[in-house]
Amino acid sequence: MEYRSEPGTNPRLVIYDTDPGIDDAIALVFQARHPEIELVGITSVFGNSDIDTTTKNALYLASRFAPGVPVARGAAAPLKCPPPEPIAHIHGNDALGDIERIGHVDALEDGRAAHRFIVETVRAHPGEITLLAVGPMTNLALALEDDPEIAALVREVVVMGGAFGFNGTLGNTTPAAEANMHGDPDAADIVFGAPWKVSIVGLDVTHETVMTTAFLASLRDRAGDAGRFVWDVSRFYERFHADDGMSKGIYAHDYSAAAFVVARELYTVRSGPVRVLTDGIAAGLTIQKPASMLASAPDWDARPACDVCIGVDADAVLALFARTLTG
Ligand code: BDR
Ligand code: CA
Repeated sequence: MEYRSEPGTNPRLVIYDTDPGIDDAIALVFQARHPEIELVGITSVFGNSDIDTTTKNALYLASRFAPGVPVARGAAAPLKCPPPEPIAHIHGNDALGDIERIGHVDALEDGRAAHRFIVETVRAHPGEITLLAVGPMTNLALALEDDPEIAALVREVVVMGGAFGFNGTLGNTTPAAEANMHGDPDAADIVFGAPWKVSIVGLDVTHETVMTTAFLASLRDRAGDAGRFVWDVSRFYERFHADDGMSKGIYAHDYSAAAFVVARELYTVRSGPVRVLTDGIAAGLTIQKPASMLASAPDWDARPACDVCIGVDADAVLALFARTLTG
């Protein structure tokens, strides 16, 4: 299948809001290589590790795969809670799988806070910026608080997060919450309620999209430096997935959201407003009121519809990754 996007709008200008993170790194390599994506900035956020570590990793990734792309440091903690503990058992002590780094990090932090970087970049490119958010949504919520008018100026927001029960799960961090929603449920509820176009790529489709060991080994052998990096960085993640009961492979969480940006035709979506529970034992639970539901639901009805991914052509999404990395 050929790459497709709306006519006359290439390339897509993307700000990548991320908590790298192994699968975040894999998604960044894809964006850096895809001809229809122009990365205009990377904003870091706490999540898979503390903000110092995720920012350092973002700088490393920019230096190695996206030289010249600015990196702005983001939120160190959720809107209303202290920072969580890093999840070293999933992403490694350095949050990039504890692989040996090669070379010097040739990138400097942008002087602006991430949410200011988002506001100023959106205002500089009205109608053109896609916000691709694959960590807790704190930076986006802060940007909206700082300048609510950016909602009308953003092209779209694509989020990796949430779970709506389509593949039998509602969460991976708790029985009710996916990690990015659990990381800052207040921010997520703000982002999903703002008047901008939001698409949500959650566990319903990322759990269907598995990069197997054989797939990753093939990239290692065929896709040069990028393929070797994806293989190296995914070794730790694969061991975590094996401990978690999955045989031979990793979920393509953050990459799935990046793929959606350029190939939304590979996904089936359901439209309707989405709420995120912000406290209690189900904090981080995502609940959509489908557009087809006629009953009144005041906590949803006043909010804009989001597109929630409920199906995916996983083979085509994986083929897109392989094709992009092998050039
Ligand atoms: C999400 O949580 C993080 O650990 C991953 O990077 C991904 O963004 C999956 O639930
Ligand atoms: Ca992430």
